[in-house]
Amino acid sequence: MTPLLEVQNLSIGVKRGKAYLPAVDALYFQLYPGEILGLVGESGCGKTLTARAIPGLLPQGVQITSGHIRFNGTDMRKVSKKELRRIRGNELTMIFQEQMTALNPLLKIGRQISEPLELHGEKDKKLLYAKTIEVMRKTGLPEPERLVSAYPHQLSGGMRQRAMIAAAIISGPKLLIADEPTTALDAAIQGQILRLLKTINRELGTAVLFISHDLDLISRLCDRTLVMYAGRLVEAGDAQSLFANPRHEYTKALIGSIPSGERKGKPLATIPGKTPSIEEEKPAGCPFAPRCLRAEALCFAGFSGKTFPKDQRYALCRLAEED
Ligand SMILES: Nc1ncnc2c1ncn2[C@@H]1O[C@H](COP(=O)(O)OP(=O)(O)O)[C@@H](O)[C@H]1O
Ligand SMILES: [Mg+2]
Repeated sequence: MTPLLEVQNLSIGVKRGKAYLPAVDALYFQLYPGEILGLVGESGCGKTLTARAIPGLLPQGVQITSGHIRFNGTDMRKVSKKELRRIRGNELTMIFQEQMTALNPLLKIGRQISEPLELHGEKDKKLLYAKTIEVMRKTGLPEPERLVSAYPHQLSGGMRQRAMIAAAIISGPKLLIADEPTTALDAAIQGQILRLLKTINRELGTAVLFISHDLDLISRLCDRTLVMYAGRLVEAGDAQSLFANPRHEYTKALIGSIPSGERKGKPLATIPGKTPSIEEEKPAGCPFAPRCLRAEALCFAGFSGKTFPKDQRYALCRLAEED
């Protein structure tokens, strides 16, 4: 199958003086039509920059320093600004964590949900209204005919997130990028939003790039998972199999830090040591070696990835083994 999204050797740099410090380093992955792909890693590992690089929305002072991004047959680094704007909001849409600031407090919910269609030239008011009501129903917003005229402050956090998702899918995108969309929500609403994303994926065939620091959420929602550490891809594979049999020590540590059963409610186990900052000089060896329980002398001298063709897994660890 041809990937819907192909990211090759992607490096993203943050400007410091005249230099660019690598925040994302040689990232490589594919996302297939209709799949839910998870991207997980601790805060600061480069998830959001990756999410923003794909639709060409990197912040000031941050830029792609190398690599290719191909989406739906388009080279996203070569495409014109005009075409990029057309792709965004049509075939590729995004929802971000800051749901409250993303909604305009002065605009009625209905207008904000239909806005992506209006921005792309749809003027037929009747059609806009019908599509808005339909998508509000799909996303489980109650009494849509009444709610279209409400303002964001009249909605709960969970409903605002549903409204954001409604706006993100009204154009029928092929890919929805969701960056920590449930992080600010409580566990019950988080579960509802995950189920909604799954329903959208199944019923509309929308592929999802789901980004979270929470591996537990990822393993509940995603088909495949990418694990990032310090700007690098350290493990990739089927979400269930990766969660059951992690092959990179970082993934093992991430799983170990998830509260489960009797540990629920107790403080999270944390991974000893800290993530290297982008200001630090890159070590010659494996970036995780200083925190790794299995690291040997050779791990500090160099590192390489291992692919496991049998179950299509990958781990950036010289010690990784098949289970
Ligand atoms: N706008 C920005 N300007 C400068 N540095 C940034 C900016 N955004 C992110 N960074 C840096 O890039 C690295 C990766 O950030 P980010 O992609 O936001 O991580 P994550 O989403 O995984 O928490 C971090 O070290 C962060 O400080
Ligand atoms: Mg982030």
